[in-house]
Amino acid sequence: MRKKVTVVGGGNVGASCAVNIAFKELADVVLVDVVEGVPQGKGLDMLQMGPIEGYDVHITGANDYAPTANSDVVVITAGLARKPGMSRDDLLLANYEVVKSVTEQVAKYSPNAILVLVTNPLDAMAWVAHKVSKFSKNRVIGMAGVLDSARFRTFLADALNVSVQNITAVVLGGHGDTMVPVVRLSNVSGIPLTELMDKETLDKIVDRTRNGGAEIVKHLKTGSAYYAPSAAAVEMVESILKDKKKVLPCAAYLEGEYGINGLFVGVPVKLGANGIEKVYEIKLNDEEKAMLAKSAGSVQELIDVLKPKFA
Ligand code: 2OP
Repeated sequence: MRKKVTVVGGGNVGASCAVNIAFKELADVVLVDVVEGVPQGKGLDMLQMGPIEGYDVHITGANDYAPTANSDVVVITAGLARKPGMSRDDLLLANYEVVKSVTEQVAKYSPNAILVLVTNPLDAMAWVAHKVSKFSKNRVIGMAGVLDSARFRTFLADALNVSVQNITAVVLGGHGDTMVPVVRLSNVSGIPLTELMDKETLDKIVDRTRNGGAEIVKHLKTGSAYYAPSAAAVEMVESILKDKKKVLPCAAYLEGEYGINGLFVGVPVKLGANGIEKVYEIKLNDEEKAMLAKSAGSVQELIDVLKPKFA
């Protein structure tokens, strides 16, 4: 039997997720959105691309959750996106309401699903989905590190004029301006970055990575990035559905790892059929530890705002 993935949110990120899942023939897709007609129309359009692209998956659109029942994975992209000048954190309260009500429905209809959170501010929204669904921590995962490390790899490949495929980039922390691209552990086919670039160039690339989302918001003016974010979410979905056990940077619920407790923060994890099957705890130096603590601190600030709602 085919796998089933629900994508909640029929905007640019959600629709691009659905298309990428179809292209890879990973699962049948149900696209859900509150706006009447949008998921139905986009879903039908994608279905009709099947004969051209050669994929055999069903794609349907819905405004309610009955058609999503028993999904294997649910990708949550619903919510507001940033406008120029806004930080991801400015979306906190509005998107809390959205993610809360979406998660209630999802948990009711797909009690065994694995949740992949994309809505910003990502680390806080993963925390909300975990609280509301009461799913075990391995079944709630935030997408961010795959995107942030893809941005880091893109800029490094560009600067060094080498294939993006040869670059391994480690990014830890929250999906915000304090994220931690770990230069010491990133490399080009095993060659440390510090042997290939001077510090000044590296610092510029780290900075551009941290502001990678804002750079795109500034260009688009009316929304935020979606091609790379959706591809990142679908890489995670693929690893789960095919039980590939890829080691990817994702937002995971930490209970003491890296000295962080009760927060979703980006760390390397193994993604397989059971969701997060392992959290890898890398030995960090003092400077990296301090940067990660700062990044976790900014996630904690958001959670402190939300916590009273669950008291
Ligand atoms: C980004 O970094 C939307 O948070 C997303 O582009």
